[in-house]
Amino acid sequence: MNLLVTGGAGFIGSNLVRHLVRTRPGDRVVNVDKLTYAGNLRSLADVESAPNYRFVRGDITDVALMTRLLAEESIDAVVHLAAESHVDRSILGPEEFLRTNVMGTFALLEAARATWRDGRRGRFLHVSTDEVFGSLGDTGAFTEETPYAPNSPYSASKAASDHLVRAYCHTYGLDVVTTNCSNNYGPYQFPEKLIPLMILNARGGKPLPVYGDGLNVRDWLYVQDHCEAIETVLERGRTGETYNIGGNNERRNIDVVTALCDLMDEALGVEPAGPRRRLITYVKDRPGHDRRYAIDASKIRRELGWEPRFVFEQGLRETIRWYLDHQEWLEACLDGSYREYYERNYGEKR
Ligand code: NAD
Ligand code: TYD
Repeated sequence: MNLLVTGGAGFIGSNLVRHLVRTRPGDRVVNVDKLTYAGNLRSLADVESAPNYRFVRGDITDVALMTRLLAEESIDAVVHLAAESHVDRSILGPEEFLRTNVMGTFALLEAARATWRDGRRGRFLHVSTDEVFGSLGDTGAFTEETPYAPNSPYSASKAASDHLVRAYCHTYGLDVVTTNCSNNYGPYQFPEKLIPLMILNARGGKPLPVYGDGLNVRDWLYVQDHCEAIETVLERGRTGETYNIGGNNERRNIDVVTALCDLMDEALGVEPAGPRRRLITYVKDRPGHDRRYAIDASKIRRELGWEPRFVFEQGLRETIRWYLDHQEWLEACLDGSYREYYERNYGEKR
């Protein structure tokens, strides 16, 4: 197969590209990415010269470029991850989220529709999030039938893109599948998201900003598990279906952060000033902060036989080790635009 991965220089995308390039030498992987602040070619340095890999710098909203790439590379499947992905940034500035997540997905669907006709078939796998379902109370879990109720500009833009993907299947017969996944963690995640941000700050002895009361719950999935789930759905998912993907690892934010502090103490030794838990600082809550997410992943297990392999404590330990061993990767993220974002987001929460 010839695969087009969008957003392959991002967190999940780079883990997926590496996985596909290494485990499927008979397939060709083309990675198209605009290289926004979140895209980083250093994340793919170890596969960049593989014979079955090509990188193209491009914007997914450029329908002419997307159409040309699909034809030029005889693409059999698009695995669509490119997006603006951070809730806090969507609160500070929603417009780019609509442009990339909605118009970008639309452009790709148009390119696919123009290319895959007259008997030539291709598959469009759309990678989405559990955040489209909104917020849960203390019990229950999102199933594929849960009504959409997005609460942030980010989740609303992802929900819109999911609806477009669905419509292209019903209206034009495009072979689409959508996955809705819970919070990922692991190597190469940009240090604006909870886990890498806390690792970075804990390493530097800086405050660990926990939003609100710290009791919001997320389900955490190790990124390698997500990559294998995406591959499974790509190969065997049923056309027009959606699949929820989760880690069976529900944790309160405060418990994630304290576990992380303890693992860092274990890895680096307790500092003279005291255990790293001392750095935990409660700050003003994120506006519209969803209370709890939980995934019922029984459909993908039952139909496709996928299950997560990593337990959270093991994954967290490996993630911390990775960040400690890759300081140069982390440092490269910390440019002026990072500091500007940090000040804007956290300055308001003091
Ligand atoms: P990320 O922010 O780390 O990476 C996004 C990538 O998309 C970057 O490389 C960026 O350069 C690229 N990109 C952005 N705009 C682009 C454009 N207009 N054209 C081309 N490339 C562009 O995101 P991630 O965490 O890897 O998430 C990937 C996908 O998975 C997203 O669609 C996200 O909604 C979804 N998802 C993420 C999570 C999570 O926990 N991270 C969970 C569920 C679903
Ligand atoms: P995040 O990694 O931004 O993912 P999402 O909002 O998509 O779930 O945040 C995970 C949880 O951690 C969420 O409940 C918000 C919280 N959080 C903090 O408490 N402090 C922080 O500095 C960040 C970035 C997130």
